[in-house]
Amino acid sequence: MLNLKGFLCFTAGLLVMSHVSAQENAMREENQVCLSCHSKQTYSFFNDWSGQEEKRLMNPHLVIDSVMFMNGVHKTFACTDCHSMDYETYPHMHELKLEPMATCLDCHGGDPHYEQYQFEKIDEEFQKSVHFERAGDLFTCSKCHDQHYYQNAARTSSTVGEIVRVGNQMCLTCHSNAAQYSLSTNAEFHNLNVVHEWLPNQELHFRSVRCIDCHSEFNQDLMVSHNIQPKENAVKKCAECHSANTMLQATLYRYENIQAREDQGFFSSIQSNQAYIIGANQVPLFKYVTIGIIALMVVGISVHIAFRVIYKK
Ligand code: HEC
Ligand code: HEC
Ligand code: HEC
Ligand code: HEC
Ligand code: HEC
Ligand code: HEC
Ligand code: HEC
Repeated sequence: MLNLKGFLCFTAGLLVMSHVSAQENAMREENQVCLSCHSKQTYSFFNDWSGQEEKRLMNPHLVIDSVMFMNGVHKTFACTDCHSMDYETYPHMHELKLEPMATCLDCHGGDPHYEQYQFEKIDEEFQKSVHFERAGDLFTCSKCHDQHYYQNAARTSSTVGEIVRVGNQMCLTCHSNAAQYSLSTNAEFHNLNVVHEWLPNQELHFRSVRCIDCHSEFNQDLMVSHNIQPKENAVKKCAECHSANTMLQATLYRYENIQAREDQGFFSSIQSNQAYIIGANQVPLFKYVTIGIIALMVVGISVHIAFRVIYKK
């Protein structure tokens, strides 16, 4: 039998070639067949046994959001580029449920076209992570990166908020959903809000920094560190971020797409605006001016009180 990996690399090669010419912004025509059922709450089919057209409820976990699909990196794909052609018939054959699915490395590994992403290095780092160590190789890349919807926010978004939202959503699929979480472990599920009770303004923090900024080991060579550490190693010191040399400059704020907005004063405002990162940039002169103003106010008030006391008499 043909080896799966070889076959997939070959298919991936063909895909790249065929996709370059495919229309960039339109869903592939043939996907409409699948989406006629997989994008709706109900689906209908012809029941050979009863000889009738029947309508049933679609399992919500099997619904594919076509807008999110078209925002993802694999938008030019046909469903059957990744799924068996046998899915074209309904009812689907039940063995198809057990079909092994390709992972990121099967298609992107060793391909110079994708060198900038360093898939192999990411894989190496991921294998040191707490997820791989505890849950084993059933915890695939796809547990975080939904192949239907994955968008490369770190490189393409122009706001920190969007990068944070997309990155954190990946973690929250499990860490805010006990059922999803339990698919990969027997360990007890803990509510994130309780676990992070020590962090003030939790909601603001979760909108402003990524989970991985506190939970993964920083790696200079990678755009996004993939070595998620046990909770004991997580960043807890406020000063790691709330200081002149915030570690976020090496992680969350390193992306060129954000720095490119420096022209519009955005990136420099991250670095200099105290409202953005409190304590990130304390200019000594400002400190003295502030102290001076306060001192003048104290003097002014004392003089004022002194005059009132004198004139009352
Ligand atoms: C007539 C409606 C219909 C059409 C058309 C259809 N599906 Fe499905 N599909 C379903 C239903 C219902 C299920 C869940 C029950 C089942 O597995 O039979 C399902 C299940 C699936 C599953 C999940 C199997 C599992 O349980 O792991 C995949 C993957 C899938 N379909 C892919 C496709 C693809 C790809 C196409 C297009 C080539 C397609 N389907 C066309 C109705 C449809
Ligand atoms: C780039 C590859 C890729 C493409 C393109 C793709 N799928 Fe999938 N699909 C997957 C993988 C991988 C899984 C298994 C996810 C898992 O179990 O972690 C999956 C799972 C599914 C499931 C089961 C539910 C789920 O989300 O786990 C359905 C239904 C499905 N795909 C339908 C579709 C339809 C319809 C299309 C076309 C619009 C499509 N897929 C296109 C890779 C792909
Ligand atoms: C079945 C093969 C296949 C699988 C599995 C697959 N990809 Fe892709 N991926 C491709 C192809 C082919 C393209 C190019 C699509 C295009 O140019 O329209 C692509 C595009 C991308 C891009 C954009 C590349 C660029 O520079 O434009 C990223 C990022 C990406 N994939 C990440 C992933 C990740 C992460 C996974 C695993 C979760 C994954 N892919 C799984 C085949 C695959
Ligand atoms: C625990 C969750 C998680 C797992 C598991 C995971 N990733 Fe990621 N990955 C992320 C997050 C979060 C990002 C940043 C989101 C973004 O792209 O904006 C990311 C980003 C990426 C990127 C974009 C990096 C760049 O340079 O732009 C690639 C490529 C990638 N991951 C590949 C993989 C591969 C391959 C695997 C499996 C070996 C994997 N990931 C496993 C969470 C995960
Ligand atoms: C597919 C579900 C899933 C996703 C997605 C996921 N995790 Fe996890 N996470 C788990 C499981 C399961 C464990 C291990 C529980 C155990 O066995 O101890 C775990 C463990 C952890 C731990 C270690 C906790 C400890 O006890 O030391 C941290 C930290 C963590 N995850 C952070 C993240 C971050 C950050 C992301 C996103 C980048 C993420 N997880 C994405 C399921 C997930
Ligand atoms: C500001 C840094 C920071 C951010 C942001 C952060 N965490 Fe944590 N997290 C921690 C620290 C520190 C602990 C350890 C707390 C303790 O042991 O008291 C922890 C604990 C955890 C645990 C272990 C839970 C358990 O079972 O005890 C998980 C899982 C986790 N975080 C996931 C996440 C996810 C998912 C996000 C993003 C939504 C996130 N964290 C954001 C610092 C952070
Ligand atoms: C991983 C980096 C990180 C860590 C660790 C961290 N913070 Fe923050 N903090 C931020 C960011 C980013 C903001 C958002 C600033 C903004 O958008 O206004 C923020 C906002 C805040 C705010 C709100 C400021 C305002 O403008 O409303 C307070 C208060 C705060 N942090 C206190 C703390 C304390 C106390 C700790 C330690 C227990 C801590 N932070 C740890 C990154 C961090």
